[in-house]
Amino acid sequence: MPHRAPGAPGHKANYLSGKVIKYYRPRGSAEIRHLIDNGFQAFNAGRLSEACQIYTEKMLTPENDTTVGLTIAGALTPAGLGGCIIEMMERGLVDFVISTGANLYHDLHYALNFSLHRGSPFLDDVELYEEGIIRIYDVLFPATVLLETDSYIRDFLVRSKIEGAMSTSEFHYRLGLDLLERNPGCEEYSVVAQAARAGVPIYTSSPGDSSIGMNIAYHELMNGGTLMIDPNKDVNEVCAIILAAKKNGCIILGGGSPKNFYLQGQPTLWEVYGIPKGGNDYFIQFTTDQVVWGGLSGATPAEAVSWGKVNPGGLPDTVVTYVDSTIGFPLFCEYAVGATHNRRPRKELVHKRDAMISDLLRQAKAAGDEKPITSEPPEVDRHR
Ligand SMILES: NC(=O)c1ccc[n+]([C@@H]2O[C@H](COP(=O)([O-])OP(=O)(O)OC[C@H]3O[C@@H](n4cnc5c(N)ncnc54)[C@H](O)[C@@H]3O)[C@@H](O)[C@H]2O)c1
Repeated sequence: MPHRAPGAPGHKANYLSGKVIKYYRPRGSAEIRHLIDNGFQAFNAGRLSEACQIYTEKMLTPENDTTVGLTIAGALTPAGLGGCIIEMMERGLVDFVISTGANLYHDLHYALNFSLHRGSPFLDDVELYEEGIIRIYDVLFPATVLLETDSYIRDFLVRSKIEGAMSTSEFHYRLGLDLLERNPGCEEYSVVAQAARAGVPIYTSSPGDSSIGMNIAYHELMNGGTLMIDPNKDVNEVCAIILAAKKNGCIILGGGSPKNFYLQGQPTLWEVYGIPKGGNDYFIQFTTDQVVWGGLSGATPAEAVSWGKVNPGGLPDTVVTYVDSTIGFPLFCEYAVGATHNRRPRKELVHKRDAMISDLLRQAKAAGDEKPITSEPPEVDRHR
C-alpha cells in the first residue's frame, strides 16, 4: 500500500462516530407525491413539480419511448444518492449515464463494503489530516478507504489483463462485472455494479480527472499496461445512442462537463456528421448555478436551442429547477417510482453499442455523400 503521511492508518474514532451513510432507495411514497402535486406550487418548488410531470407524464410514457440520459456532477455518491440512481437503472427509467469520475470512484467504496460517515462541515481540517480522515463537506471517512479502493482498482487492472483502447463505457462495464463476481449482491449498493447488471452504459467526460484515472495512469507507468481510455469512442457512442433513439431526454444533476458531454451529442450529429436529428426533446436540470456568469453549467435550455442541442419546439418540455441535487433528486425519484409508468423494459444499450456505431457510420457516410457544407440551420420537426 502506498504511503500517505501523516495520519494513515490511525484515526480518532470520534470523527467516525456518525451514522454510516447508506444508499437510499426511493419507494414511491404517496405522501411525497401528494406534497409535490399539491404543495409544490410556485417558485422552485413549482419547477420541481414541473420536472416530475415532464418525466413521468411525457418522457416515460410508452408511446414516446424516450431514451433517458442521466448526467451526474457534484459529490452525489458520497452523499448517498447512489441508491436513487440504482433504483432508476434497475427499473429501466434511465438508459445511460454520464458522470464525473469522482462519483464512480466513490461508488466503489460502497461496492467494496467500506464505510463513509455522517459528520460536520465545521471541523479542524489540519487535525483531520493529521488523523488520516478525509472530508467531503460533512461526509467523513478514513484515508485507508481511499488507499484500499485504489489498491482494488490497480489489482483489477492487473488481474483482468485489460488492454488496448476502449471507451469509458466498456471500462466501467468490465469493472462492474468484476465487482459482481467478487462481491455478489453488490449491485444493490453500487451504481457501477448495477449498471453492468442492467446493461446501462456509464461514460465519464474527463477520464483522467478522478482517482480511477489516477490509477489507470499508474498502471501504464509502473506496469507497462496498454489500457488507453479513448474519448473518441465515448463521443461516438453517445452520439450513436442519441441517433438511435426515438426521442431523447436528459436529467442533468448539477452541470459541469457531464452536462455538455450529453448535450453535445445533437450538435455532433448535425454539425459534424451532417445528420439533422433535431435536438433534444426533453430537458430537466437540477442546479445551483446561475445563468448570468455565462458558464455552461448555468446555461438555460433556451440558450441550448441556439446550438441545436434542444429542439426549438421542445422548450415547453424543458425545466431548470434551482435546488441542491441532494434534496431535489431523491424527491424526484420518489415521485417517479410512485408513478404509473414506473418501470420500463430495459434498453440494455451496453450490448447494442457496436450496432449503433455501425448505424451512425452508415448514416454519416450517406449524409456526407449527399449534403454540401452549409451554414443553414438543419431542418427540424418543431411540431411535436
Ligand atoms: N477523488 C476523486 O476521484 C475526486 C474527488 C472529488 C472531485 N474530483 C473531480 O473534481 C471535479 C469536480 O467534482 P464535482 O463532481 O464535485 O463537480 P463540480 O464541483 O465541478 O460541480 C459540477 C457542477 O455541479 C454543480 N453542483 C455540485 N454540487 C451540487 C449540488 N449538491 N446540487 C446542485 N448542483 C451541484 C456545480 O455547481 C457545478 O455546476 C470533477 O471533475 C471530479 O472528477 C475527483
